[in-house]
Amino acid sequence: MKSIVVVSSLTGNTLKLASAVAYALNNNVEAVKVEEKPDVSDYDLVAVGCWINRGTADDKAQEFIKTIKGKKVAIFATLGAYPDSDHAKKSLENIAALFDSSNEVVGQYICQGSVSYKMVEMMTKMFPAGHPHAMTEERKARIQESYSHPDNQDLLKAREYFTELKNRLEG
Ligand SMILES: Cc1cc2nc3c(=O)[nH]c(=O)nc-3n(C[C@H](O)[C@H](O)[C@H](O)COP(=O)(O)O)c2cc1C
Repeated sequence: MKSIVVVSSLTGNTLKLASAVAYALNNNVEAVKVEEKPDVSDYDLVAVGCWINRGTADDKAQEFIKTIKGKKVAIFATLGAYPDSDHAKKSLENIAALFDSSNEVVGQYICQGSVSYKMVEMMTKMFPAGHPHAMTEERKARIQESYSHPDNQDLLKAREYFTELKNRLEG
């Protein structure tokens, strides 16, 4: 099975994850950045990595996703929220729905990624107390926790997940 790993990453979190995915799926052949607009026609499996922007794939990843037709696809992503949250589940659903129906989504992996300080500053300024996105103590704690992610555990789990996926698809 020929695989390609394509990634969109603004601050580097998803890029780290992409290396783990590439290690597992592709014998460590480097992931390709989405900006390079790779031609995926020769591949059986396209693993697409993105960061979560307002509950779905970031714009660059969305643009690339739209070009994929008739492939097995796997999604990996990082986000500020907890990976077991409803928000994470919904975000993965939203990403899966972006793919043309000729594709088959065969796997998805999501983990937390450090939220940039700029983003925290922006949210604090933009959203007043009481707003659903306001900077509450709970949100601050979650963002604080995001700073150490993706950590070794997240990367190891991604490697395991994509190794199993590869075995399953080749089995
Ligand atoms: C403009 C912007 C919007 C974001 N929207 C969300 C969001 O809706 N949900 C979430 O959990 N995290 C959100 N985040 C956090 C990022 O998804 C997270 O920090 C991610 O790991 C960044 O990945 P990267 O380093 O590969 O760019 C947002 C970050 C930015 C900068």
